[in-house]
Amino acid sequence: MTTLQTERLALRQWRDDDLDALAAMNADPEVMRYIMDGAVRDRPQTEAGLRHMVKIWEEHAFGLFAIDVRETGEFAGWAGLSVPEFLPEVMPTVEIGWRLAREHWGQGYATEAATAALRFGFEERGLERVVSIRHRENDRSRRVMEKLGMAHGFDTVVPANGQPVAVHAISRDQYLGGGAGES
Ligand SMILES: CC(C)(COP(=O)(O)OP(=O)(O)OC[C@H]1O[C@@H](n2cnc3c(N)ncnc32)[C@H](O)[C@@H]1OP(=O)(O)O)[C@@H](O)C(=O)NCCC(=O)NCCS
Repeated sequence: MTTLQTERLALRQWRDDDLDALAAMNADPEVMRYIMDGAVRDRPQTEAGLRHMVKIWEEHAFGLFAIDVRETGEFAGWAGLSVPEFLPEVMPTVEIGWRLAREHWGQGYATEAATAALRFGFEERGLERVVSIRHRENDRSRRVMEKLGMAHGFDTVVPANGQPVAVHAISRDQYLGGGAGES
């Protein structure tokens, strides 16, 4: 059971009782604004998503972590590693991503959790390269990528839905050397 601790957050595996908080987060239009077609997810879709997140962990030696705020025990969202099958042109690769409930935005949690997940990917799973993919207008996410040292690589479009995305990346060497710098 892989768990990670940061100063303020606990990154852990999924539990069935995460569904309520996950469904509330995925029902928030502001949270979902830049995710795929921007539609909110209903409870059955979120339940399928939860099963998918469990499956990623079963199929790979990595996955998306549930995030709890250590001080309060509150569920804040998720961050971690997955496989971006929705963008065939970058495959095969590993993607780092994040999604937080809105009440937890703006406190540096995404960067704190993703920093731990990136370290896990490079130092404990021996990854050679990690990408991160965002809607081109998702400036908050762009900022998190920059703070992680992930340089902007190129812009493209998701074939399934025409979403304009920017692809950022960091190699193992860049990570070990302190980041890819900002573009
Ligand atoms: C993206 C997300 C995870 C960021 O979470 P967070 O914990 O607020 O992120 P952090 O606090 O670590 O960093 C956010 C950065 O964006 C900056 N920021 C906030 N609002 C911004 C805006 N409107 N435009 C540009 N930058 C902005 C913050 O100032 C901060 O940068 P700083 O530390 O240099 O000041 C959160 O907004 C979220 O869950 N969004 C919805 C889901 C989503 O879009 N996921 C990503 C898909 S690629």
